[in-house]
Amino acid sequence: MRQHVNPLSKNFHEIELIPSLHELFENPELPLHLDIGCAAGDFLFELALENNKWNYLGIEIREKLVNNAKSKLRDMEIRNLYFAFGNANNIFNDVNYKFLIDSLSSISFNFPDPWYKNKHHKRRVIQTELIKILSNSMRKESLIFIKTDVKELFNYMNFTISNNLNFKQLQNIDLFYPNSFNPKNIKTNREKYAIEKQLNIFERIYIKT
Ligand SMILES: C[S@@+](CC[C@H](N)C(=O)[O-])C[C@H]1O[C@@H](n2cnc3c(N)ncnc32)[C@H](O)[C@@H]1O
Repeated sequence: MRQHVNPLSKNFHEIELIPSLHELFENPELPLHLDIGCAAGDFLFELALENNKWNYLGIEIREKLVNNAKSKLRDMEIRNLYFAFGNANNIFNDVNYKFLIDSLSSISFNFPDPWYKNKHHKRRVIQTELIKILSNSMRKESLIFIKTDVKELFNYMNFTISNNLNFKQLQNIDLFYPNSFNPKNIKTNREKYAIEKQLNIFERIYIKT
């Protein structure tokens, strides 16, 4: 399976139809967390099984991973988890999905693809336009979590989000983790790898003001 796909390719212009929250989840009133670039969804499966007080949604651009996650989900009959295939940037840009952004309590960008070369920075998932869309629709006090083991990517993401005056940095100490989407501090696959290899991990939380 390809490790990296170019999100700007025209293959990803079509967006999967994402149903309403009532169709997605058994209890649509629960707080909703969105994980962007969820890969095979292992992190979200663990979260959803641990926490029945949250709903979880994963968006991933590699279709095969999403199809596998969906069939695993059907077998396991988990009712607080959903996976959608597509380029997150296109989904956010589509007015039909404003309802999703409006409903979010938090969103995570865990170890996004770094796209090291300058000419490829436009392929990065965090872009000024995307942060603007989030800042226009996310609720007051909703949260953005970013995490990466690439310092330059961290600086870029931090700069892009901090430049939007509607998001303020939240100190980790100010977050009451038991109430967050990840009370047991479950790690993503890339995070487990980074810990095993003793790589530095850079992370930050932002709150919508
Ligand atoms: C380095 S992996 C990290 C996976 C996982 N979040 C983790 O921490 O283990 C980045 C993931 O983001 C996905 N991705 C990259 N650009 C994307 C986009 N624009 N929309 C949705 N998913 C994207 C990739 O296909 C890949 O699965």
